[in-house]
Amino acid sequence: MFQGTVSTALPRREFYHELTEQARGLLAGETNLVANSANLSALLFNAMPDVNWAGFYFLVEGELVVGPFQGKPACVRIAMGRGVCGTAAQTRETQLVPDVHAFAGHIACDSASRSELVVPLVMPDGAVLGVLDIDSPLPARFTEEDRDGIEAIAAVLVATLAPAGAVL
Ligand code: SME
Repeated sequence: MFQGTVSTALPRREFYHELTEQARGLLAGETNLVANSANLSALLFNAMPDVNWAGFYFLVEGELVVGPFQGKPACVRIAMGRGVCGTAAQTRETQLVPDVHAFAGHIACDSASRSELVVPLVMPDGAVLGVLDIDSPLPARFTEEDRDGIEAIAAVLVATLAPAGAVL
């Protein structure tokens, strides 16, 4: 049984160092995308304070489709370039949004969400696999330390996948 916990009293960089190590251990030896993204969403949702949604959208035939997540049921499909997730996937750049109400085109899946962090998942060959999306009910919940930490954890997931990419 997985017993991991990370103290939220740790400074944020140390918190993410520990959480990244736990993610590495949790996903070690498994290459299945659904299994690893499901476990990773559960790890993040349970370890991170003040988070109301943590999960994945995967790029399928040019559109983002919801994948494994923790939180309330979410929008199923998001067009490339739309919302925070579609913007992260299209630009291949992490979107750190302190106030979702101020982000033009934000898609409100859970009206409780006030801030959001979305990291693109880019395969070694440059293909966009999808995004990792984390939402908070607190405004400005995410800092640059969260961005760096979640980018490192997203890289752990990408590294577990077979070089040829995942079959969805
Ligand atoms: N808010 C996201 C949509 C996904 S949900 O938050 C789970 C967006 O604007 O892309």
